[in-house]
Amino acid sequence: MGFRILHLSDTHVTASGFDEYGVNTISALERILHDARHVQDIDLVLVTGDVADDGSVEGCLGVRERVGAFAERRAVPHVYTTGNHDDRTAFAEVFGSGHLDHRGDQYADAKINGPECAAVSMRDGVRIVTLDSLIPGQTHGRLSTAQLEWLAGLLAEPAPAGTVIALHHPPVHVSTSAFVVAAGLHDAAQLGAIIAGTDVMAVLCGHYHLQLSGNLAGIPVWVTPGVVTRIDLTAPGHLVRGVKGASATVVDLGGPFSPAFHLLHARDPQAGQEVYLVDTSDLPWIRRD
Ligand SMILES: [Fe+2]
Repeated sequence: MGFRILHLSDTHVTASGFDEYGVNTISALERILHDARHVQDIDLVLVTGDVADDGSVEGCLGVRERVGAFAERRAVPHVYTTGNHDDRTAFAEVFGSGHLDHRGDQYADAKINGPECAAVSMRDGVRIVTLDSLIPGQTHGRLSTAQLEWLAGLLAEPAPAGTVIALHHPPVHVSTSAFVVAAGLHDAAQLGAIIAGTDVMAVLCGHYHLQLSGNLAGIPVWVTPGVVTRIDLTAPGHLVRGVKGASATVVDLGGPFSPAFHLLHARDPQAGQEVYLVDTSDLPWIRRD
């Protein structure tokens, strides 16, 4: 049996609706949800963090209202993780564990409350695990010992149709972008050691605003591009160029090519238009520890 996830990330919605670059974040989200309306057989909608650009309750509510309406029409769950822009308190106020059923009710089977959170739920035999990888005030991410130990205990028993892990910070990077090298999950090796040889089918992430695939301990890792913007890697490696063009991924699990990932790009006449160009040469954190 196939299992299809609509994977969104980095909605960056704010209380005002506009981000610091003047992008209409609500319109970007609405555009990709509208253009995803023809995708059939979606079993779950996932948002892997940077839900609210300003960490606000209002930003979280703006996303929950729109993604929740999409999920309700499909009668499928909607699941969220935190990102580095999110505030844990505001996130928990709006999303609780992050696992909501199509009515908006909490349905996580188990969770740890952190400060670094984690939660798990089951849908059609697929186990969905969310990990909160944010470090307040930092761009890169980490997982705590408590999260990793909890995950190891969980994965000791396989799920009927396998497991998906969702977190904001990717445990993979490309060497051509200094920003991407520095900004990912810094304890990727520890995560890899825990998921190696388990029933984890895919690790789904956001954060880079860039479509990217790799593997961790032999398990496919997918980074979906941002909804609010995407990073254009044609820029020189010391620059980060953000461009318009809301995107999402359809993740197909359980079929003959599982996991298969394909992209949706919103039909935005402004797609590709530059939003920002940041020189990272002098940023002290662009040095991986
Ligand atoms: Fe982001």
